[in-house]
Amino acid sequence: MSLEFNKGFAAVLTAGIAFMGAGVIGSQLVKPHRLHEPAITLGAVAPTAAPAAAPVEVPPIGPLLAAANADNGRAITGRVCASCHTFTEGGRAGVGPNLWGIVNNHHAHMEGFNYSPGMRSKVAEAWDYEALNHFLSSPARTVPGTRMAYAGMQNIGQRADVIAFLRTLSATPAPLP
Ligand code: HEC
Repeated sequence: MSLEFNKGFAAVLTAGIAFMGAGVIGSQLVKPHRLHEPAITLGAVAPTAAPAAAPVEVPPIGPLLAAANADNGRAITGRVCASCHTFTEGGRAGVGPNLWGIVNNHHAHMEGFNYSPGMRSKVAEAWDYEALNHFLSSPARTVPGTRMAYAGMQNIGQRADVIAFLRTLSATPAPLP
């Protein structure tokens, strides 16, 4: 055996021992300790999606309509709605559609008016008293994407008066509920 070979062998051996020793000493110095519980639990992430918004209660308008004041409703619509709507038979569209005969008519009732897709998607639904009640209390919540830029009428007595007035916009007003 040559001395050169022994030297080479010794070098490899030394390197191996040094490597092992470094591992042992290193783990003594750092003392890694295994966690009993995983630091991050992937399965148990708290739900981040907010729970679905609670449905907003809109009390029924039916019981108020018999005693509602259509004349007051006319005055309110004159102040609040007439900037966008006409109410006479055959009246032209403004920013919003004409509202003659709206009660019990279908959504998006006016021929040729440029309704929002949200309103058009409800074309098979009737504007009965409760549908009007919900829409007028909050147009955007009732018909998502509506073009009616009106926040809503919170006062249920005023809504009843307005709906009672809308009911009169017909040659044969719908029966009261
Ligand atoms: C800023 C203008 C504006 C105001 C104010 C406004 N509206 Fe509207 N209204 C619209 C527009 C625009 C539409 C069509 C909405 C759509 O296509 O989504 C509409 C739609 C409607 C509809 C549905 C009509 C149909 O053919 O389906 C009713 C009912 C209605 N409005 C009632 C009212 C009443 C009652 C008031 C007052 C309390 C009012 N609006 C105030 C612009 C307005």
